[in-house]
Amino acid sequence: AHITFDTKNIENFVAAHEFSEMQPLITMADEQLRHRTGAGAEYSDWITLPTDYDKAEFSRIQAAAKQIQSDSKILVVIGIGGSYLGAKMAVDFLNPMFNNELADDQRQGVKIYFAGNSTSASYLNDLVRVIGDQDFSVNVISKSGTTTEPSIAFRVFKQLLEKKYGAQAAKKRIYATTDAKHGALHDEAISEGYETFTIPDGVGGRFSVLTPVGLLPIAASGANIQDLMNGAKDAQEEYSESDLTKNEAYKYAAARRILYDKGYTTELLINWEPTMQYLSEWWKQLMGESEGKNQKGIYPSSANFSTDLHSLGQYIQEGRRDLFETVVKLDNPVSNLDLPHEAGNNDGLQYLEGITIDEVNTKASQGVTLAHVDGGVPNLAVHLPAQDAYTLGYMIYFFEMAVGASGYTFGINPFNQPGVEAYKTAMFALLGKPGYEEATKDFRARLGE
Ligand code: PA5
Repeated sequence: AHITFDTKNIENFVAAHEFSEMQPLITMADEQLRHRTGAGAEYSDWITLPTDYDKAEFSRIQAAAKQIQSDSKILVVIGIGGSYLGAKMAVDFLNPMFNNELADDQRQGVKIYFAGNSTSASYLNDLVRVIGDQDFSVNVISKSGTTTEPSIAFRVFKQLLEKKYGAQAAKKRIYATTDAKHGALHDEAISEGYETFTIPDGVGGRFSVLTPVGLLPIAASGANIQDLMNGAKDAQEEYSESDLTKNEAYKYAAARRILYDKGYTTELLINWEPTMQYLSEWWKQLMGESEGKNQKGIYPSSANFSTDLHSLGQYIQEGRRDLFETVVKLDNPVSNLDLPHEAGNNDGLQYLEGITIDEVNTKASQGVTLAHVDGGVPNLAVHLPAQDAYTLGYMIYFFEMAVGASGYTFGINPFNQPGVEAYKTAMFALLGKPGYEEATKDFRARLGE
């Protein structure tokens, strides 16, 4: 079984011929993507990653994960953006909801905590307290090796390791995932002798979950990274046609583009499982950083249902009509629960007896889709047949392929992120980083300093 894509709930909004009219644009995008003639093609090695990755390094990742599981209770994973969200998505999706709180014998691997994804001091202090006297290791992940947030967090946890284990033993508990040749983290890893893993040159941060960036934390959590790669590999084969009627990733790209052209400029990725919240966060970076350029692109947003139906639901039903939804529906979650029997009908739930809580979830999702369609919100659906690594790998490739093609239909470079630098310049200027002297004067003056 593999993932499927469903457009029946946009039929009120999009006519069949509009898809065929989109075919030439998709063919052109496919051409640019696969023949690497489009802008940013040097960062499109993710296309063949599922069949063309470093197998020796893959085995080293599995061995490192085993080592971490044998000498640590906790792995602190330090990274931000593309060096964070893919691992967080997968660790959440492939493990129980409260994995870090379970008893040790109830967990498949180590507890995973993420750090370096904000500039909050409290977050770091609180995580240090959580670690307490438990054994831990650190996986620091940064392609550039110079990103401020993870660099700060790495100092904190490196010093904690040194205090706990001594300088030499600490080095054995640090795993660095970074560029093959350059950057401060690369240089430190070489001089200190940390075990290192490589982020391939041709794979940008938001496309890097199937490289060591995602694979080491995912493996350490106990999930099966071979299955993850196998799912992506089968998806690579399935999504290899330019024909929209045969390639559902491209059909998704086309549907989004048709809707955008009709004024539906915000896409909400919807989930019905709390373990999928970070799937949306990963997807938001993938879509937003790839498409949001030249004053164009669909704004990627998300909502967690049914939770957010009690907050955002009103807006979705009746607010500005520029929204469409893409529901990622997990058809068979790993566990289910019967509604507990109760004598009498004090809570008014007797009519639900005999059905499972997951059936309630599914009916709720179907009902909400119909209500939103009636309210003028086009609704796309991606169905995940199982909550497992194979399916996740498949889905990752589906979205990556879709955004690669979609980016080219917008005539932009889907693989760069020049806009991410603006905030860094302002921040460095205010912090007085050497090399930013002119900007420092300017920004400080704007703050009246
Ligand atoms: O996609 C991107 O470029 C960003 O989100 C980066 O992944 C993020 O800034 C982290 O960069 P680095 O891995 O160099 O620390």
